[in-house]
Amino acid sequence: MPRVFSGIQPSGELHIGNYLGAVVNWVALQFQHECIYCIVDLHAITQPYDTATLAPRTLEMAVGLLAAGLDPSRCTLFVQSHVPQHAELMWLLNTVTPLGELERMTQFKDKSARQESVPAGLLNYPILQAADILLYKADRVPVGEDQLQHLELSREIARRWNTRFGVETFPEPQPMLSPTRKILGLDGQAKMSKSLGNTIGLLDSPEEIWAKLRPAMTDPARKTRKDPGNPEICNIFTIHRAFSTGEQVTHVDAQCRSAGWGCLDCKRLLADNMIAALAPVRERAAELRARPERVREVLGDGAAHCRALAEATLVEARQVMGLQAP
Ligand code: TRP
Repeated sequence: MPRVFSGIQPSGELHIGNYLGAVVNWVALQFQHECIYCIVDLHAITQPYDTATLAPRTLEMAVGLLAAGLDPSRCTLFVQSHVPQHAELMWLLNTVTPLGELERMTQFKDKSARQESVPAGLLNYPILQAADILLYKADRVPVGEDQLQHLELSREIARRWNTRFGVETFPEPQPMLSPTRKILGLDGQAKMSKSLGNTIGLLDSPEEIWAKLRPAMTDPARKTRKDPGNPEICNIFTIHRAFSTGEQVTHVDAQCRSAGWGCLDCKRLLADNMIAALAPVRERAAELRARPERVREVLGDGAAHCRALAEATLVEARQVMGLQAP
């Protein structure tokens, strides 16, 4: 069975952007692959962050992922810092990664431009990501488009290692692009992201969902109720595709183009479908929040499983590098 690995930042609550863009796919994959999913807290600390909320955000992310349908009997879920081998392999890979490759990563350029003092961890972020994947010799890595460059670097690091030491230690991981279209934030401009405050939370109440959806950006050409719209460029229509039936989507499309419906009519149907689809997720999240020891147990089991897999790879990697065995 092919092995899948992916990671997500401990941003706290999931929103419908990362739910539709990543998590729905993660849930589907656990039925055909051996899946390992990681909450990447060591990546999160490469940017300014709040120490007091990192641990609760990590736990909350686990709650969201489990509520969304990750099943601990079908996949492994763990927290990156609970498996120290990630940091160790990162150091080893560090020695075969060209500095120039790191400096040309677009995420590094973006993020470092916004910081006065750039920590080395931000530059080395993609090496840690390569370590995450290579530690488990993962074959496939489900990611969004924004991670393709990092994944290409992981492949390059695997190749360089194999060439340098003359052994095929690491297979080259293949990206798997998520099948859903990219969901923009409610502003219709930027990517949906918690830090931009343009999200609908996966666990939002029906009232919150409607309050956020109602003022959301649609096709700017629909200035008045009578102006026809173009669903192809409307972010709300993209979200409809994910939550509404095929028939409803066709209907919404026609009503938008003919100005038969106003944007609010369209959003009301979407809100109803979204609320119905997310109700069981909210329910499971409430159950899990009431039993935090169960969530910790899942993460503990996941980390124990991963430490064993990871140590086997590291024994091999240290030996290939010629390090003295203890
Ligand atoms: N950098 C990824 C992101 O921000 C998260 C990540 C870390 C990851 N390690 C990974 C994704 C390994 C895939 C595989 O989305």
